[in-house]
Amino acid sequence: MALKETDKAAETPSLLDVARARLSRRQFLSGAGTLGLAAAAGPLLSACANESTALTFEPIAHVLDETHHVARGYSARVLARWGDGVTAGAPPFDPRDQTGAAQAAQFGFNCDFIGYLPLSDDASSGPAAHFASNNSRHGILCVNHEYVSLRLMHPGLASSAEAAAAATAERVAAEMAAVGVSIIEIADRGNGFEIVNGSSFARRIHASTPMAITGPARGHKRMQTPDDPAGETVLGTMANCSGAITPWGTMLTAEENFHVNFICDPASLPDALAAEKANAARMGIEADTRMSWHRYHPRFDMENAPMEPNRFGWIVEIDPYDPAAMPKKRTAMGRFKHENAAIIAEPGKPVVAYMGDDEAGEFLYRFISKSNFDPASRAANMDLLEDGTLYCAQFAKDGTGRWLKMAAGEGPLVPANRIQDAADVLIDARRAARLLEATPMDRPEDAEVSPVTGKIYVALTSHNSRREKIPASSRGPNPYGHILEILPPGEDGGRDHWADHFTWNLFIEAGDPSAGDDAMKPAYGGVIDPSGWFANPDNLAFDPKGRLWIATDGANDFGIADGLWAVVTEGEGRAVPRAFFACPRGAEACGPCFTPDGRTLFVAVQHPADETGSTFDNPSTRWPDFDPALPPRPAVVVITKDDGGAVGG
Ligand code: FEO
Ligand code: CA
Ligand code: CA
Repeated sequence: MALKETDKAAETPSLLDVARARLSRRQFLSGAGTLGLAAAAGPLLSACANESTALTFEPIAHVLDETHHVARGYSARVLARWGDGVTAGAPPFDPRDQTGAAQAAQFGFNCDFIGYLPLSDDASSGPAAHFASNNSRHGILCVNHEYVSLRLMHPGLASSAEAAAAATAERVAAEMAAVGVSIIEIADRGNGFEIVNGSSFARRIHASTPMAITGPARGHKRMQTPDDPAGETVLGTMANCSGAITPWGTMLTAEENFHVNFICDPASLPDALAAEKANAARMGIEADTRMSWHRYHPRFDMENAPMEPNRFGWIVEIDPYDPAAMPKKRTAMGRFKHENAAIIAEPGKPVVAYMGDDEAGEFLYRFISKSNFDPASRAANMDLLEDGTLYCAQFAKDGTGRWLKMAAGEGPLVPANRIQDAADVLIDARRAARLLEATPMDRPEDAEVSPVTGKIYVALTSHNSRREKIPASSRGPNPYGHILEILPPGEDGGRDHWADHFTWNLFIEAGDPSAGDDAMKPAYGGVIDPSGWFANPDNLAFDPKGRLWIATDGANDFGIADGLWAVVTEGEGRAVPRAFFACPRGAEACGPCFTPDGRTLFVAVQHPADETGSTFDNPSTRWPDFDPALPPRPAVVVITKDDGGAVGG
């Protein structure tokens, strides 16, 4: 059932109709509780009958300046910025006197993923009732913080070398507290969303927060360290890139470029640890780093704790409805530089997660849980991600592809290739995928699944050095990136995400139509506006009407601001993007996130002013405060339509 794009709404099956048809086809409603309905249909529930899916906003022009811009008729307001108070007793932000204790109570640096979890107006509700309420005016905002930009976080630093020379224990403590996750309660009492101070949900999770190691690698000898001989508990999460909200109302946060916080001098490790040396090299851990955490915390030097890096690079699951719940690292989902996880859950079936490994030449993965999704029981779903099977994607040039099972003892994943057990497959997922001949890709970032068609969209940011031609990309090198469309077998709305094969095509090949040689020409779905082109797609999100929103990271290199572009994926206007939001210079746009009613869009503006020569003391923009006494501050922006309508039209 293809959704036709038309202004004649009466001729178009409403998204709610589509969702209902899909749900009834799967006999989903029989016996399913409200949690299940919310879980599987997600934001579709809020789509009103006979709504048009046409994008009606007037595109903004390309721009590159000190502030942000949003389409005419919309307002973009800063909701939470680095240093704002999160937990009770948070001190006022003082960027010239940063401490670990202060930062551990404040909103972190370089916000990336944003997830919204509804809160029922009935305060006695439990997590399942809160989640099922679909309340679009009161919720928990789950935001992660990827890394710290040393020159912009601290005064007096002009280079990485200066940053290393000037490091102190307290500065490192502030940095370690500035990454991880901020959980805040927000409410719209009539004047737009504001932070609810003193919330019992408010929480900071950072690089020193204890978390459980779960799944097949829990307790494995390659997870054991001097601080944790049992290999069952790790301090902290870091390098949190994108993430997800699960259909049972938890947050997933993806550990990506954790390697920068470690050092490994290969000469310091005995030959018996050759596997760890090779693994460290594959992950990019080097003998030196711009970061200084290892000087004050021996676990970040592999000479002291050779297995510590194996405890990072995972998907972490957090229950924001329970501030006392310990975060859980989900080793069954593999260890690599995770971007995000797109979850598919259908009643009585295993859950599926699509995941990208954001590095040039790395792979796309799929996880299928061992146990089945139970829409009537949140408790039954809380550990679905603890056990399951990992697959890697292999694309063929004829537009087909296969999911290759990554099981110890099968195919090349055997002792002869230094794979002894399931934990080896998961810890060395990159090596295992290469042994299986998965297709190397152009930095797989977000994967997202259309709630209407079930097609999978994967953002590939770029691959600047590749010369050889590969499937799943038409260009090499590929500096602009592209968006891949993957079709599991079946019809729109009823696709088989559990099958071992799929077909694929290139949805958009990004770039400036007026630049580059013929080999570098972009490909869109039709004639685009002058500002319709973008570069380096990173995060993706579907709005409740099933339209795709694309956030970019890297467009400054091509003379335009990073920002948000919206596009429809079916019918008229397919693959013709429209520019909606532009970041201030130096910033990337991250984490687009809609409330269930589609009337509020949150977006993270990460690393404003991150440009050559730009520093805390002399930044290229002081967004968002424009106060000479304050540095630029990464922040979450909240966007609404001035007439109160759905964002995008
Ligand atoms: Fe942290 Fe893949 O972007
Ligand atoms: Ca990203
Ligand atoms: Ca990025």
